Amino acid sequence: MNNSYWQQRLLQTENELCFIKKALKFNNLNHGSLLESYQLAERLKKLSAKFNDQEKKTVIYGAGKHTEKLLAVYPKELGRIISIVDDNPTRKSISSIPILPFSELTPDFDLLIISSDTYEDAMFKKATEAFGTTKQIIRIYRDTQDHPIPEFHLSGRWLHSDLQRLADLVKDIPGDFSETGVYKGDSFSLIAKLAKSQNKHAHAFDSFEGMAEPGDMDNGEFPKGKFNIGGLEAFIEILSKKDIPSSTYSLNAGFIPECFVESENTRFSFAILDVDHYQPTVEALKWLWPRINTGGLLALDDYYPDLDSLASKAINEFMKNNNNFEIFDQFNNQLILKKN
Ligand SMILES: C[S@@+](CC[C@H](N)C(=O)[O-])C[C@H]1O[C@@H](n2cnc3c(N)ncnc32)[C@H](O)[C@@H]1O
Repeated sequence: MNNSYWQQRLLQTENELCFIKKALKFNNLNHGSLLESYQLAERLKKLSAKFNDQEKKTVIYGAGKHTEKLLAVYPKELGRIISIVDDNPTRKSISSIPILPFSELTPDFDLLIISSDTYEDAMFKKATEAFGTTKQIIRIYRDTQDHPIPEFHLSGRWLHSDLQRLADLVKDIPGDFSETGVYKGDSFSLIAKLAKSQNKHAHAFDSFEGMAEPGDMDNGEFPKGKFNIGGLEAFIEILSKKDIPSSTYSLNAGFIPECFVESENTRFSFAILDVDHYQPTVEALKWLWPRINTGGLLALDDYYPDLDSLASKAINEFMKNNNNFEIFDQFNNQLILKKN
């Protein structure tokens, strides 16, 4: 392993430590990841600077996990929460705050906060149709979009807020969504939901048996079978537990490039590639790139610019040999390319 690899690792570790120190300042972070809670708190802080009035009567729209996270980091400047509303409430209260059906919400409030990172736009539409411009309605993600939030990324996973943001950017580009290298479906389950919200389909490409044997450019890392989730059936089970309708996605099992053969004619507006090893990354890039429509995005994980092995080497070679792209975004070890 060369020095630049360890330098990158050190930088990444410093970033992660920085996040953990900040996240530990919050108490009660029992739900979801600390990282997402930290970023949610940062967004709420920005909003509370804008909507500062502790006397306001505030309603939270959405009674899911997102609201549990929100309540743990809620700044009092955003007002006194009088109720939580939901389209289909399945419980009576969260942290002693009553939950009502949205249809029973009366106009006796000042501020409505939409509490969802996945359905924010649809819920905003419904709320504005019901209460017009008579009430302040806050979208936590949309309304903080122009204010950069410090992002601290833990390696090897995609934040849902990033996936949501990237998917929004391609909503007018034709083409399906895909993830190559899906592991336990943490990001793929959201990709399937986001694709559906744009009337697109989601495609997963994976061996579903974990990594192949490392090649010469992989330094023996990520041994054969790592990330084995127990086959295709196990993956289907995971998605069904997450309530992802099977009509919204296709699963393509096999080692790269065999997993691609059934999808020759598919075109994409958003693709994630995350398979760690050098050779499958080379082959996946070769297959995916011509199938991404102009304006579409390719999201790459595990990118250490100075590393001359593993996926990083394949990505560097790809960028050297192609010019029909721009680097759209880069945060820590994740790189987003836009097709020109
Ligand atoms: C790091 S995990 C992916 C993590 C996932 N993207 C996420 O964010 O949760 C790598 C995945 O790539 C798959 N994979 C690695 N090499 C592969 C190959 N040669 N062919 C097919 N799948 C492969 C593994 O089975 C594993 O599911």
